[in-house]
Amino acid sequence: MTCTSLIFAFFILSSVAARSPLFNPHNSRPRIPHIDEPDESQPVYHFTSGQQISSYGETYYFDQLVDHTDPTKGTFKQRYWHNYEFYEPGGPIVLMTPGEESAKGFTGYLTNGTISGMIAQATNGSTIVIEHRFFGDSNPHPDLSVQSLQVHTIEQAIEDLAYFAKTVKLPQPDGDKLAPGKAPWILVGGSYSGALVSYTMHTHPELFYAGYASSAVVQAIGHFWKYFEPVREWMPANCSADVQAVIQYVDSVLDSGNTRDIADIKANFGLQDVIHLDDFAAALKAVFEDWQSNSITSRSNSFYEFCDALEVGPNGWHAPASGWGLEAALQAWGKYWNETLYPSRCGKLDAESCIGSHNPDSPHWTNASLPNSNRSWNWMICNQFGFWQVGAPEGTPRIVSSYLTAAHNERLCQYEFPGAFWGLKKVSLLNALTVDKTYGGWDTTTERLIFANGERDPWREATVAAALATRNSTDLQPHLLSDGFHCSDMSRGSAISPRIAAVQKQALQYMTQWHAAWKPSAAT
Ligand SMILES: *[C@@H]1O[C@H](CO)[C@@H](O)[C@H](O)[C@H]1NC(C)=O
Ligand SMILES: *[C@@H]1O[C@H](CO)[C@@H](O)[C@H](O)[C@H]1NC(C)=O
Ligand SMILES: *[C@@H]1O[C@H](CO)[C@@H](O)[C@H](O)[C@H]1NC(C)=O
Ligand SMILES: *[C@@H]1O[C@H](CO)[C@@H](O)[C@H](O)[C@H]1NC(C)=O
Ligand SMILES: *[C@@H]1O[C@H](CO)[C@@H](O)[C@H](O)[C@H]1NC(C)=O
Ligand SMILES: *[C@@H]1O[C@H](CO)[C@@H](O)[C@H](O)[C@H]1NC(C)=O
Ligand SMILES: *[C@@H]1O[C@H](CO)[C@@H](O)[C@H](O)[C@H]1NC(C)=O
Repeated sequence: MTCTSLIFAFFILSSVAARSPLFNPHNSRPRIPHIDEPDESQPVYHFTSGQQISSYGETYYFDQLVDHTDPTKGTFKQRYWHNYEFYEPGGPIVLMTPGEESAKGFTGYLTNGTISGMIAQATNGSTIVIEHRFFGDSNPHPDLSVQSLQVHTIEQAIEDLAYFAKTVKLPQPDGDKLAPGKAPWILVGGSYSGALVSYTMHTHPELFYAGYASSAVVQAIGHFWKYFEPVREWMPANCSADVQAVIQYVDSVLDSGNTRDIADIKANFGLQDVIHLDDFAAALKAVFEDWQSNSITSRSNSFYEFCDALEVGPNGWHAPASGWGLEAALQAWGKYWNETLYPSRCGKLDAESCIGSHNPDSPHWTNASLPNSNRSWNWMICNQFGFWQVGAPEGTPRIVSSYLTAAHNERLCQYEFPGAFWGLKKVSLLNALTVDKTYGGWDTTTERLIFANGERDPWREATVAAALATRNSTDLQPHLLSDGFHCSDMSRGSAISPRIAAVQKQALQYMTQWHAAWKPSAAT
């Protein structure tokens, strides 16, 4: 995750834009990985007949209902992409959404370079990539105002998939005879869209026959401090030990209330001008969000650069597993902030303008123009999921300051969506509980649903692989685990990890078995 493009944009706008935070002070999104797009201009040939079919890049538009609770409100154009190179009569329709961003650039998920295409290839199926409402070009309304966002809910997203499956006429032979019941429909997703697979199958078992949910954050959790637990556990041991020592010290200084000491500790990182302690805590957290961009085939450079800065001494020696200790780590982290992170993220801006989040009039919050996937996602977390990436509770080892609390995020929700969250709706804990109660969270009993997870995924503790999740893997709801990061198992390229190769192989076996047992029904 980088802020580079935003920094350039800021330089252009800085003469007019007032104090807009450069950091996205909210959470990083649980997004699924891009894989290399196929060449969209090349013709695609049907696998067995050899006939040329439309290219991967061909965009289709579906007339989707704006509001599933009131069809009289009309329709909007929902984008999708489609491929039937592996399709044979009797094969399934494999429907996938990348979730919380523009789906343009995700046509790799039509191909056998990803798990959706691999399932299609193994079962003679077609693949579809559909854009989620309020992302990319699939917008029910012309802006992202609070009023427009009323139809931006998990419930509406589920019904989008259901209505699409029941109604679409697919651009392929017999495309109007493939609705659920006539053909098996398989849902695929990762991250939030993985959770959506589970929620949609829970709501519409009659429409969706089977599913594959990767790193699916099924359990909504209001205060999600455990986002940082896999990071703390899997980052280099010396770096983890030193970061914990520094954060413990930072928190003790902030707790002391001593103005001079607090000023000194902020200045250690060159952040003396950051006014509010929650912003200071959020700034120190930023580097740990980069863990999420680790994959099996590539590592987050910035994350490991940070650990090297802390742990590699001037003579090239590495610290032992216990780290160099507080004093050296504090100095090295401060220097890294001063010399590397600050210039790359804030340029020449003063620290408060770059990092401060306490100005409700900043265009960062007030700009409701399309498209803005951060704003669209922020609505979903403010309104339903929570997932606030906060410091761990007192007495728990932590890499993020306890001064980063849910109140920080809840305040940002109020800035970004004025008037929308008040009363009980303001309490993210309650919103998350409602989601879990409605869709079963990690206790879901949905059948023919594969959950695939990665040990090193920062979102692990919101999935069925969490320590607190108690349901066991069964043949009708297999829980597969690899050494992957976030959604690693969705990409064929990750199969260089033998454990991911095994997950993919098992998943294809289940899908093939289930497909063979499918029988037409009167679903629609
Ligand atoms: C969205 O947020 C991410 C951080 O999560 C940031 O890197 C990106 O620049 C933001 N994009 C915009 C348009 O604000
Ligand atoms: C993936 O699909 C392409 C056709 O699009 C085919 O040429 C290739 O052999 C397939 N790869 C594997 C490993 O089956
Ligand atoms: C796929 O289609 C081919 C050709 O019609 C057929 O021989 C094969 O058995 C089918 N495979 C599955 C899994 O249905
Ligand atoms: C110590 O840190 C270095 C640099 O990040 C890393 O390469 C090494 O694996 C770490 N060693 C231990 C024992 O944690
Ligand atoms: C970071 O920069 C500030 C001045 O902006 C300086 O006072 C402080 O000593 C520096 N800290 C480190 C660890 O280099
Ligand atoms: C508001 O957002 C739109 C879409 O992201 C962008 O094009 C525009 O420049 C933004 N305006 C301001 C004042 O930030
Ligand atoms: C899961 O399996 C363990 C060990 O076999 C068993 O003790 C536990 O009761 C099972 N949990 C559930 C929810 O069935």
